Amino acid sequence: MKTVICNWKMNPKSFDEAKRLFAATKKLSLTTKGTDIVVLPPTIFLRELAKSYRGVRIEFGAQHVFWEQEGSHTGDTSPAQVRDSGATHVLIGHAERRILGETDAQVRMKVAASLELKLDVIIAVGERERDAHGEHIQQVREQIVTALADAPPARYKNITIAYEPVWAIGAAFAPDAHEVHQMMLLVRKTIRDTYGERAFKLIRVVYGGAVNKENAEAIFAVPDLDGVLIGRASLDPTQLESIIKAAQ
Ligand code: 13P
Repeated sequence: MKTVICNWKMNPKSFDEAKRLFAATKKLSLTTKGTDIVVLPPTIFLRELAKSYRGVRIEFGAQHVFWEQEGSHTGDTSPAQVRDSGATHVLIGHAERRILGETDAQVRMKVAASLELKLDVIIAVGERERDAHGEHIQQVREQIVTALADAPPARYKNITIAYEPVWAIGAAFAPDAHEVHQMMLLVRKTIRDTYGERAFKLIRVVYGGAVNKENAEAIFAVPDLDGVLIGRASLDPTQLESIIKAAQ
């Protein structure tokens, strides 16, 4: 089954709007079967949304998390608090967090702390830019290898790697299907080479960055792809509907 992960980022501005957006998303989930939908709202809306919509087929997650379960960490949210809010997922290492200073080593600690509480982790990786020498490949490999270093094999089933090239996030165009496929293969090969067959079989891999209703069919036709992570399109029910249909 394909997964559509909706990263609302810092949208919308009010809880009333968030409820309306979620209602539209929920409606789509009811009319379109056979696709897993995960919504990542701003943390401040998370508990209320998750509580009001218990039992709906949609799952909830946080957009980032700290690596300790409690303590003096102003402004942060712990995996324990995410779990307690009713969420089941957490996104870790998004480019928009890395740009503020989040490091591979921190991503590794956040992944371990979240898996300890059996949260499903979505680990975002991706190069800032491409260069002719293929250095971006090394960068993506390192992000994956470090992020998974403390993940217990028993929790591999709770892991998704989201390949999101930074240059495609918020951009007009996604890479073409061939490029997406090449990177899916690289991600899977890195997982297999470093963590073995079990990790290769259980860890899911999705693509993110400029997915929209125009390119969704082509992206879902990529072999070895378990789903998509969408930003802007998750805020627009018309876009979202086309993407969910393409996923089916
Ligand atoms: P866009 O879909 O808006 O390009 O954002 C992608 C993204 O960052 C999802 O996490």
